[in-house]
Amino acid sequence: MSSVQIRPAQLEDLDRIMEIETFSFSCPWSRKTIEEAILCGPIRFLVATSLPDNQVVGYISFHIAADEVHIMTLATHSAFRRQGIARALLEACIQEGKQAAAAVFHLEVRESNTAALALYRKLHFKIVGRRPKYYFRPVEDALLLSRRFDKENVDSR
Ligand SMILES: CC(C)(COP(=O)(O)OP(=O)(O)OC[C@H]1O[C@@H](n2cnc3c(N)ncnc32)[C@H](O)[C@@H]1OP(=O)(O)O)[C@@H](O)C(=O)NCCC(=O)NCCS
Repeated sequence: MSSVQIRPAQLEDLDRIMEIETFSFSCPWSRKTIEEAILCGPIRFLVATSLPDNQVVGYISFHIAADEVHIMTLATHSAFRRQGIARALLEACIQEGKQAAAAVFHLEVRESNTAALALYRKLHFKIVGRRPKYYFRPVEDALLLSRRFDKENVDSR
């Protein structure tokens, strides 16, 4: 596992976040959308930075509302994948959500995204639904995944 630090994103991180975003997604968020997400209070936007050079290597954004956390985006720079960075970001999100008394975490993922599905499975997310034709470029169903902490037992950890 790579040594990373996780901290809230700053506007100075935008160039690097955009680089990762445009490489990672066929329908990337615009710079304006990411800028607003970084600045918007209810949305949390965290970056992982590599040590010791402090380069942004991944990010996650999520929205905490009442006892629910909606994970909005998650990506790791292509040169830093399979080093535990997305896992560390997800764990940071779960920790923040739990501190805010959240009991359920949910997200959507393309059904063909085997890497992300393997990651979420490892973090004990379960498929709970499907949103037909949720994505475009290409059109594809989303799988809806969630992890609940109010109903979990020790065996599922
Ligand atoms: C999906 C993504 C975020 C994973 O990031 P990552 O930092 O490489 O993931 P991690 O190293 O933390 O992986 C943790 C575990 O997830 C699983 N996993 C991650 N990538 C995988 C892959 N390509 N194939 C199979 N399993 C994978 C593995 O179980 C892995 O543990 P292991 O390496 O010990 O086997 C990254 O591939 C990415 O940015 N993809 C493009 C953007 C994207 O699809 N985001 C998700 C949108 S819902």
